[in-house]
Amino acid sequence: MNILVVGGGGREHAIIMKLAQSPKADKLYCTPGNGGIAKYAQCFDVKATDIDGVVKLAKQVEADMVVVAPDDPLVLGMVDALNENGFRAFGPDKAAAIIEGSKVFSKNLMKKYNIPTAKYEAFSDAQKAIEYIKTENKFPTVVKADGLALGKGVIIAQNFEEAKDAVTSIMEDKIFGNSGANIVIEEFLTGPEVSVLCFTDGKTVVPMISSMDHKRALDNDEGLNTGGMGTVAPNPHYTKSVADECMKTIFIPTIEAMVKESRKFKGCLYFGLMITPDGPKVIEYNCRFGDPETQVVLPLLESDLVDVFEAVIDEKLDEMEIKWKNQSAACIILASGGYPKKYETGKEISGLDEKGQLENVMVFHASTKSENEKLLTSGGRVLGITAIADDLKSAVDNAYDSVNSVSFEKMHYRKDIGQRALNI
Ligand code: AMP
Ligand code: GLY
Repeated sequence: MNILVVGGGGREHAIIMKLAQSPKADKLYCTPGNGGIAKYAQCFDVKATDIDGVVKLAKQVEADMVVVAPDDPLVLGMVDALNENGFRAFGPDKAAAIIEGSKVFSKNLMKKYNIPTAKYEAFSDAQKAIEYIKTENKFPTVVKADGLALGKGVIIAQNFEEAKDAVTSIMEDKIFGNSGANIVIEEFLTGPEVSVLCFTDGKTVVPMISSMDHKRALDNDEGLNTGGMGTVAPNPHYTKSVADECMKTIFIPTIEAMVKESRKFKGCLYFGLMITPDGPKVIEYNCRFGDPETQVVLPLLESDLVDVFEAVIDEKLDEMEIKWKNQSAACIILASGGYPKKYETGKEISGLDEKGQLENVMVFHASTKSENEKLLTSGGRVLGITAIADDLKSAVDNAYDSVNSVSFEKMHYRKDIGQRALNI
């Protein structure tokens, strides 16, 4: 099969490395890809959001399957366009991707179908939102932009002034652009967070191994929110009884709700969960694989990923047994100094072999480019180093050992990835 993957970060690199293990994958293509992905797949310069460009590329490479990995092309309807042109595509169509594309939609869905989540109200008027915050008078409170905002559209306000500023900056100053035309104000929940990515064909839902993200930039969960500074899998908070409860009260009800709304979801549905004192609740849905969750989850997959993608597309997931390795994984993100604020790019990366890899671990490139035989940094999150071992502590230790072999100017990474999981 010729397989085209749309996207160009660490997540896409992890998907491609897994697809490359399949005897069914003959040729792998990626757009736009990056310096590390280019060692495993032929890369093109069509943007991930360029729907016509990707359809044209799928024709050019005679793609037997297209995997659309990032949120924005899914929300824009890339899978619909690919299907209309006769291509088999992995990922939800536009109608289903709204589960991530609009927080107002997803919150209303959960309310309508009794799926546990934080209490909330949705607003299209800033003044009304501010009045509501005043009347509720409960802090911290959470202010969320309705649309996609690069994972940054959530503000946790500690008092009325902060909440009012959040509403004004999102709705009036439009710090997240049109994503902030509507907002959700919700109750602040507490408890450990768990990411559960699920394969679903709209009828059957198969959770992958659970994982734990580390969203803040600095050790001890301090500093700004980022796209994710590291992950471990499995997540020790996701016990068998929590998993059973999630299946019954969250996963199956969500899949069924989407069918009832005529928005059958096919692809990878990501449940961002909080295990609150009142049980697991949904913090967010994503219509795609997580980044950097994918970099710890897919390396633990035993089954052939091409088979899984085919089963999802053909709605035959119930006929397949998906197998996992009985091991643990840890991924440490190496970022540019300054990220998620201003940072420099174009720094030479040293320590990697000619495949952009290291011995004994997997190196997933998030933003690198090759220039004159050199590998350079090209974004905020640069590399993810993933180690697999029989237990989590060894996975974390092995990943950190390998981090020491890589360097670039102003390289920044967290030193405590996995500690929260090891200390429970
Ligand atoms: P999201 O973009 O929805 O994943 O939100 C980013 C982060 O904000 C989450 O991972 C949580 O840590 C935090 N967060 C979002 N919603 C809530 C909430 N209702 N209560 C507490 N923390 C939240
Ligand atoms: N790591 C969080 C996300 O992919 O949204």
